[in-house]
Amino acid sequence: MTTESHSQQDVVLEAVSITKRFGGAIAVDDVSLSVRRGEIHAVVGENGAGKSTLMRVMAGVIAQDVGEVRVSGRVLEKGAKESIDAGIALVHQELSLVPEMTVAENIMLGYAPTAIGFTKTKEMKSVAKAALDEIGVSVDLNERISRLSVALRQFVEIARAVARQPKVLILDEPTATLTPAETDYLLQMLQRLASNGMAIIYISHRIPEVFKICNTVTILRDGTRVAISAVADTTPESVVDQMVGRELKLGLQTRRQKKPGDTVLEARGIQAKGVNGIDLTVRSGEIVGLGGLVGAGRTELIRAIIGADNRSAGSVTITLDGHTTVITSYQSAVRNGVAYVPEERRTDGLALTMTVAENITLPNREELSRWGFQLRQRIADFAQKLADTVGLRPADTAREAGEYSGGNQQKIVLAKWLGRRPKLIVLDEPTRGVDVGAKAEIHRLVKKLADDGTAVLMVSSDLPELLELSDTIHVVRDGAITGTLVGDEADEKSVMSLAAGEKMVKS
Ligand SMILES: Nc1ncnc2c1ncn2[C@@H]1O[C@H](COP(=O)(O)OP(=O)(O)OP(=O)(O)O)[C@@H](O)[C@H]1O
Ligand SMILES: [Mg+2]
Repeated sequence: MTTESHSQQDVVLEAVSITKRFGGAIAVDDVSLSVRRGEIHAVVGENGAGKSTLMRVMAGVIAQDVGEVRVSGRVLEKGAKESIDAGIALVHQELSLVPEMTVAENIMLGYAPTAIGFTKTKEMKSVAKAALDEIGVSVDLNERISRLSVALRQFVEIARAVARQPKVLILDEPTATLTPAETDYLLQMLQRLASNGMAIIYISHRIPEVFKICNTVTILRDGTRVAISAVADTTPESVVDQMVGRELKLGLQTRRQKKPGDTVLEARGIQAKGVNGIDLTVRSGEIVGLGGLVGAGRTELIRAIIGADNRSAGSVTITLDGHTTVITSYQSAVRNGVAYVPEERRTDGLALTMTVAENITLPNREELSRWGFQLRQRIADFAQKLADTVGLRPADTAREAGEYSGGNQQKIVLAKWLGRRPKLIVLDEPTRGVDVGAKAEIHRLVKKLADDGTAVLMVSSDLPELLELSDTIHVVRDGAITGTLVGDEADEKSVMSLAAGEKMVKS
């Protein structure tokens, strides 16, 4: 960089030749990274490239095997929590708030009351409020986290980091759950924080965001740093090429047949918490997309439909081979060929301490048990085949699910349901946090499922994804369908204008 001598003084956080292994596998291999005051430094790479691991080392959450982390020139003890006091705040990739505690309690979580000196709720609240004000988000301090939308939870996470007035703020994929408008808001907020001198490390799979707000970009691949450059000196295409290290076969795969078959799912007059009377039909071979803003009630709707949450009114039926069943519970939905890939994969979709093979075979026990004595090997083969199908990396089904990177955990959840050859698959944000290559792969899979006759019901806040995959789009706002778009009627504009309602954040 051109301002090397000047910048060296401004370096706040520096990682020098960091290596981190998990068992025999190397997650981060001799990587250095430094960030200056007022700089927004992007770290990009495919799922499993080592981004989160490097950040956890830099924030003192885990200890590196080799290398040093320095804050303003001072070497930090390995994996020590002192990095928090040293001014490094990490907003984790997966939400880490306590659902049953309030907004204020969560923001102040981890502050030792004795050290900080506040014992009174009042003081705690005023610190929490100041942090929320600083990022310009209005939310009731006394509200329980479990009652907030995923997007608001994300902003509370950030407030929690900002409350510590860090010198360095590290955000690990903060926009994965946000809509375009919320993302813009967050990006502006980060620019404001940086212009006040904060150093920011920003991880995202969304390359356009990197080009919008970042000064520098570090590219990781398979645990090593393959490039670092000033954002002004590179292009999105070049960044993606370096990330994947091979040519991406993106491009749109066309669907074989567009003509849907018989009705599989029929939902009538659905009422539930956050859902105000929705009718919905999904036919065999059809992909029905639910668009709308985060918090519009789409997750609530699908959960009510499949019986995962209570309905106060309405009926749901599944029809298979001319035989119609009324769905009254989640168990009856699963028994009737419904697969559900939830939004919160870490808490709802995966058993983190079980192996990949165990997770994948969990919903398929019945089928597998028919295989009798050959069980062990066949289970292994079965799991391996599905792991390969979703492009799990590394495709080692004997590893614990919790050891996989965020994007790869999403693939495990998907694999587990694909194994059942579902009649109806319900997907909530299927590619959230998934890298570009894996995303294309999942899109291909979803289309293939539909082509093979599966009925697909999908929630997606990713507009290009919604438009590319859906045969029919229902736009949901405030728990009701505000419009339905079929074929060419659907474009970014028509979806967004139907979706736009009240704004979540106030400036
Ligand atoms: N606790 C752990 N135990 C074993 N292996 C781990 C553990 N955490 C991460 N790994 C491995 O380290 C590598 C890097 O993972 P990491 O989570 O840093 O990737 P990432 O770049 O953040 O990916 P993503 O984009 O999916 O979030 C992966 O191969 C992952 O499986
Ligand atoms: Mg990660």
